[in-house]
Amino acid sequence: MNPETIEKPKTYTLGRFIMEQERNYPAATGEFSSLLLDFTLAAKIITREVSKAGLVNILGVTGSENVHGEKVQKLDVFAHETIYKALDHTGQLCVMTSEEEEMILHIPSRYPCGKYVLNYDPLDGSSNIDSNGSIGSIFSIHRRVTPEGRGSEPDVLQPGNRQVAAGYILWGSSVMLVFSTGQGVHGFTYDSSVGEFLLSHENIRTPERGAIYSTNEGNYNRWTPGLRRYIDHLKSEDPANGRPYTARYIGSLCADVHRNLLYGGIYLYPGDTRNPNGKLRLLYEANPLSMIVEQAGGAASDGHTRILDLQPTSLHQRVPLIVGSRLDVEEAVRFIQEN
Ligand code: AHG
Ligand code: MN
Ligand code: MN
Repeated sequence: MNPETIEKPKTYTLGRFIMEQERNYPAATGEFSSLLLDFTLAAKIITREVSKAGLVNILGVTGSENVHGEKVQKLDVFAHETIYKALDHTGQLCVMTSEEEEMILHIPSRYPCGKYVLNYDPLDGSSNIDSNGSIGSIFSIHRRVTPEGRGSEPDVLQPGNRQVAAGYILWGSSVMLVFSTGQGVHGFTYDSSVGEFLLSHENIRTPERGAIYSTNEGNYNRWTPGLRRYIDHLKSEDPANGRPYTARYIGSLCADVHRNLLYGGIYLYPGDTRNPNGKLRLLYEANPLSMIVEQAGGAASDGHTRILDLQPTSLHQRVPLIVGSRLDVEEAVRFIQEN
């Protein structure tokens, strides 16, 4: 075989990749790169815990303590605290918010306050844990906007179009970290033998149109007529136009969006008669995943407005989410608006 035709392996660690991206910004101080790298430390610690999630009941049979004398924690609380503690003392963040905490999380006063803000969903898809299904952690990073002090609501309540980075870690058949700093979307797969995330999916592009729809169709009778007609349309027979679509729903937003990002398709968690704004949270779920999908060439809407243009008004605000391949999202929005 001609050696020129052999594809050369790229063993890029996440650290090297981030450093090389930073070179595109001569004014960069390196703080932002450190922030991303510190986040991956949390990811590795959570990975260790996720991999023994099924053992928690065995290790914890003596009560609230495991055989090591440690308290057995629920995985989502563990992930929440691990991320907070990996980042509270590093001097890059001025404030955080987590889906697991009602209020803003300040940086302890003994540590320096930085210029970035982190909003995160420490454990997404938590109902999948006990069945060994896919779960994730989602993060969204902004630059602070308040000129002084130790961070407050205006810093965390920024529209998604001001995110400087967003991404997720996905624990599926392998562990992946996918992120964007506004220069495309890149995926890294965890190699536990070397303890590193290695570049595996450079510059992910999502198909313009897909053939998968992902939604909790159990809510069908609570949806608006327009949305019901849209899903009926996807199921209708029209092979020349790629229909019927295939239904795929894991019930873990991160995993559902990731699959559709790679294969093409649409994810919908709409409002319904019980929950007019749906279930998903703007700051921790919709904004970061919408940035990822848009950066890969897709689209995200609440049915009327681009998700990234919504001005958040409260920390745990919910929003209808329609995200995925651009032509699919545009079509869904047309049906929804006809009603
Ligand atoms: P979380 O585990 O962070 O609370 O999020 C669960 C979310 C999301 O991951 C998923 O897409 C959705 O809830 C599933 O909701 P349904 O069970 O209503 O389909
Ligand atoms: Mn979630
Ligand atoms: Mn969660």
